Amino acid sequence: MIIAPSLLAADYGNFARDSIKAQRAGGEWLHLDIMDGHFVPNISFGPATVKALRSLTRLFFDVHLMCSKPEVLLESFSKAGADQMTVHVELGTRVEPLLWKIRSLGKKVGLAVNPPTNIASVQPYLDKIDLLLVMTVNPGFGGQPFIEETLPKIQQAAVWRRERRLNYRIQVDGGITFNTAAECARVGADTFVSGTGLFGQPRMKTAVAKMRKIVEEVRTASSGA
Ligand code: DX5
Ligand code: ZN
Repeated sequence: MIIAPSLLAADYGNFARDSIKAQRAGGEWLHLDIMDGHFVPNISFGPATVKALRSLTRLFFDVHLMCSKPEVLLESFSKAGADQMTVHVELGTRVEPLLWKIRSLGKKVGLAVNPPTNIASVQPYLDKIDLLLVMTVNPGFGGQPFIEETLPKIQQAAVWRRERRLNYRIQVDGGITFNTAAECARVGADTFVSGTGLFGQPRMKTAVAKMRKIVEEVRTASSGA
């Protein structure tokens, strides 16, 4: 399993300090939310910020592109130090060339699906990705409540992975707390993005360890069942 603290919930005046904090707390990945003010009604930060953080930490940089035109951004984020780039299935016919482009840049390939979008839409791409991101809130803002109706989608993603003998990671993002991480783990999630749920805790290291323990217990129980 992987825990990926989301920088969106960090102190915007202290991204450097908080990236280091995420590493020291024991997260494996740093989740970097890129919002363009068009695909989602908010703007976050761009490649220059990612580049500035790259030399400060060894964390795997998990770049989530909530952008209408990722084609114009992939090279910049690749150069800035992204290890993985995730684009949204809602971009329709542009998805396949985008996945190919990410792969050709030598990066891990992620595909995200929003809560209202049918999970069947990701089916054609499952053998082309390293990670499937099942959004558990409507993207755009941190601190929103988890949408329970996304749980069957996670479960379906896990069924397809087993049936087709694929090994993409199943990531959840949005409203992930100790409780909702457990719910997602129970239906097959293995990669947990959490912003407010981790940065909002008084001791982030304790919070990461607690989330890991909760998820590991659920996973052990489900594999023995
Ligand atoms: C939502 C972003 C998330 C966000 C999650 O649009 O994609 O990654 O940072 O924040 P929390 O964990 O606070 O819901
Ligand atoms: Zn995200």
